[in-house]
Amino acid sequence: PTTEDLARAEALIRTIPDYPEPGVLFRDITPLLADAAGLRCVIDAMIEPFEGQFDVVAGIEARGFLLAAAAATVADVGLVPIRKAGKLPRPAASVDYALEYGTATIEAHDDIAPGTRVLLVDDVLATGGTLQAAHELVPAIGGVVVATSVLMELSALGGRALVPDTFAVFTA
Ligand code: PRP
Repeated sequence: PTTEDLARAEALIRTIPDYPEPGVLFRDITPLLADAAGLRCVIDAMIEPFEGQFDVVAGIEARGFLLAAAAATVADVGLVPIRKAGKLPRPAASVDYALEYGTATIEAHDDIAPGTRVLLVDDVLATGGTLQAAHELVPAIGGVVVATSVLMELSALGGRALVPDTFAVFTA
């Protein structure tokens, strides 16, 4: 995509103050998802640097799924859903990680061949806890994370320290 295409797409991300709680600036990507050219351009931007380097896309529930399924289709590869605990019938691996308050768990099935090259996809890199956990989960199902791509990095939250090789289309 061109710089102009990307600037137009970025302008479609809506910033909502005080959601989901006071003091938080929420980045709402739904207007971007609703725009055909915007959606296609960010999907292309997320996979372009890694073309030919991955065999499957792994996407993180829930907003990561929206981008990961599109990216997998455009790249003509399959999709591995990384789900929140309790959603998969036969999880092969699970990883616990810390949230601001409490913990969370992600799980996946192991329906990929050992050594499968994985492009990890999510919508947002915030504190980095989710992606760091996904980096642990993928090898546990036999995959190798070859790259990580997000639509947007929230740099003030410092998540890059945990997942330094993450590619972000937009930085806020
Ligand atoms: C959001 C976002 C990322 C994660 C990033 O997911 O979609 O997966 O948080 O945060 P972190 O870098 O601090 O770990 P959320 O758990 O809110 O779920 P959702 O996608 O289902 O809304």
